[in-house]
Amino acid sequence: MDMDDALLPPLAAAAVLLALAAALRLLLVRRGAARARLPPGSTGLPLIGETLRLIAAYKTANPEPFIDERVARHGSGVFTTHVFGERTVFSADPAFNRLLLAAEGRAVDCSYPSSIATLLGARSLLLTRGPAHKRLHSLTLTRLGRPASPPLLAHIDRLVLATMDDWRRDAAAAPPVRLLDEAKKITFNLTVKQLVSIDPGPWTETVRREYVKLIDGFFSIPFPFAYLLPFTTYGQALKARKKVAGALREVIRKRMDETAAESGGAKKGAADQEEKKDMVQELLEAEGGSFSVEEMVDFCLSLLVAGYETTSVLMTLAVKFLTETPAALAQLKEEHDNIRDIKGKSQPLEWSDYKSMPFTQCVINETLRVANLISGVFRRANTDIHFKDYVIPKGCKIFGSFRAVHLNPEHYENARTFDPWRWQSKNKLQNAVGASLFTPFGGGPRLCPGYELARVVVSVFLHHLVTRFSWEEAEEDRLVFFPTTRTLKGYPIYLRRRPAAEDSSAF
Ligand code: HEM
Ligand SMILES: *[C@@H]1O[C@H](CO)[C@@H](O)[C@H](O)[C@H]1NC(C)=O
Ligand SMILES: *[C@@H]1O[C@H](CO)[C@@H](O)[C@H](O)[C@H]1NC(C)=O
Repeated sequence: MDMDDALLPPLAAAAVLLALAAALRLLLVRRGAARARLPPGSTGLPLIGETLRLIAAYKTANPEPFIDERVARHGSGVFTTHVFGERTVFSADPAFNRLLLAAEGRAVDCSYPSSIATLLGARSLLLTRGPAHKRLHSLTLTRLGRPASPPLLAHIDRLVLATMDDWRRDAAAAPPVRLLDEAKKITFNLTVKQLVSIDPGPWTETVRREYVKLIDGFFSIPFPFAYLLPFTTYGQALKARKKVAGALREVIRKRMDETAAESGGAKKGAADQEEKKDMVQELLEAEGGSFSVEEMVDFCLSLLVAGYETTSVLMTLAVKFLTETPAALAQLKEEHDNIRDIKGKSQPLEWSDYKSMPFTQCVINETLRVANLISGVFRRANTDIHFKDYVIPKGCKIFGSFRAVHLNPEHYENARTFDPWRWQSKNKLQNAVGASLFTPFGGGPRLCPGYELARVVVSVFLHHLVTRFSWEEAEEDRLVFFPTTRTLKGYPIYLRRRPAAEDSSAF
């Protein structure tokens, strides 16, 4: 009895304490849930979070499970994870992605790691916000969104053909051509021409050598660790940035002097002006000439960067996917041979020709859908964002994944197969949900200003490739998705001139 008496009070006390603790915990959890229910998820290991798992997945040929598993586990297209040093809300939900793109500049702002920002320049289009962004963006859209203008299309046509003329004609002895390298030459030369009207030559060659180092700086490192490597690739890239910016600055200064001299003296003809009008000219004239030299330099640099890798990889992957899908390649060939039959052998392509390539457009869309050159966009919440039952707190990082939507079998039948014909029979869901299911170029205030230009370049490239050449893979090559989507070896192919085309060049 004594023993029990002695034990009872402490036991009772312990029981009460336990009950209290349990109640308190319940209460706290409830309170927490009511206050802000973050989308479900796990944040993985401390500090590195799930970054390594993400990178490992994207280095394989099939990174989808990383997202699929999490969507399945949490039963939600929007979940929380921890990547690149920060808690991040990850979205595989098209409705949320549409919200995210549309809310740019209000509920969210785009968010790049500081290492990237430094390479781009503070006044770059990709980093400016608010009204400054609005005016720069609309300027870019007017300039790039008009690839129909005859001088530009003719220029693309000439540039593609000149590049192909460099490929050795006697296929038997010729080494393989790395298609990605060739595509990059075309893209770079074209952008330089559009920006500053300079044709390929020693100037472009010097700039390109530095520029390539700058691009390496963007992609050689997982972003958050960039600052750990200031003396390696990243340091080189910073140095290269100074040189490229210097070269651009020189050209812009010269043009400013010329413009000043001209406005005093005789004006050139209006038609001549229109023909010559490049991006720098547009900038010089915009808003009564109020842009500073540094603003123009950063602006040009961001255009050079934004269109280069994406367009070149799109060209390369279109060819790769076509090669692996012979029926699609045959149909594409027929479409372009027909255009040539009507036009005659060596006439340059015109806008009406571009408009009569319906199957080519299906091939391009399907390549964009499967490849996901830009796999999604990073944003940061400016306020608490409510979506379904969740609250995404102010300051939180958000990644809207296009890839997860484009490759979801709920949205696209056999989503992981390259099937250009699906665009002919108009995906039912695509029609129902509209543009928000297919967003290879983003949307909202930051919609890619190069979306039409990229399509035109790839179309012209495919036209001349299939009407002039046949080819086969020189080595097996495969896709990787980290740090960017590309093929491991740049897609080396053996090219052979098609006999019909030989006749025309003999003429
Ligand atoms: C296949 C080719 C291309 C793809 C897939 C692509 C994709 C994208 C995407 C998804 C964005 C939105 C980024 C965001 O919202 O954070 C974007 C923005 C941008 N793109 Fe493209 N792009 C391509 C080609 C080009 C070309 C050829 C140019 C120009 C020469 C270009 C210039 C830009 C610029 C300047 C932005 C930033 C717009 C802004 O922040 O306001 N892109 N691109
Ligand atoms: C494009 O530029 C590269 C490097 O500047 C040069 O080697 C190449 O010949 C140019 N291509 C054409 C078709 O002008
Ligand atoms: C390709 O995608 C765009 C949206 O980016 C769409 O407007 C267009 O109709 C699509 N083309 C085809 C042939 O379906």
